Amino acid sequence: MRSDVTLHPLDRARLQDLLHAAVEDADPLEVMPPVPGPGGWTTERRSAFVRFHESRSLSAHPVETTFVIAVSGRVVGAARLCPVEDRDGTVEAGVWIGRSHRGTGVGSAVLELLLDRARASGCDEVYVSTTPQNSAVRALMAGIGTELVADGDELVGRVRLTS
Ligand SMILES: CC(C)(COP(=O)(O)OP(=O)(O)OC[C@H]1O[C@@H](n2cnc3c(N)ncnc32)[C@H](O)[C@@H]1OP(=O)(O)O)[C@@H](O)C(=O)NCCC(=O)NCCS
Repeated sequence: MRSDVTLHPLDRARLQDLLHAAVEDADPLEVMPPVPGPGGWTTERRSAFVRFHESRSLSAHPVETTFVIAVSGRVVGAARLCPVEDRDGTVEAGVWIGRSHRGTGVGSAVLELLLDRARASGCDEVYVSTTPQNSAVRALMAGIGTELVADGDELVGRVRLTS
């Protein structure tokens, strides 16, 4: 596993670095919910990205925990753990990595680090869902022995955490 990949809790300073990484190296639809209007990183979409993370992770009552992903100290993406409603002990994992860093083992390292974080916070299961077209997530999960199965329009998988 790559040793230059690290996770750091999102804070306001890192949010600016994360916005920069997203604008430079990712498509808005890969990293945030859709925002109506012209495509690309418009001023409105940049503000929505910041508001999205502020409300979900930096508010007084955060709904999920977000980490910035750094490679040799440089922010290249984000990973999150969000408690699943009505399933105590289960968190949903989500990850995006800047295009120029994909396919080089960053995702595999992030997955291991994210599972460690979930375990350390007392969770016993991590849930993943993606689209059938997302070969990278399928390969990532296969790499830890978790097969994704169809659930409606999505592919889903559960990783049991052992201490
Ligand atoms: C999904 C994502 C996080 C994977 O991260 P990554 O750094 O590219 O993954 P890695 O380089 O560690 O590769 C993990 C495995 O996926 C495979 N893989 C990577 N990109 C792939 C692609 N585009 N198509 C098929 N397989 C791919 C690698 O070969 C590797 O498989 P292996 O272990 O059998 O060799 C990254 O592609 C990404 O950020 N995508 C955009 C956002 C996204 O789709 N997020 C997930 C939403 S559920």
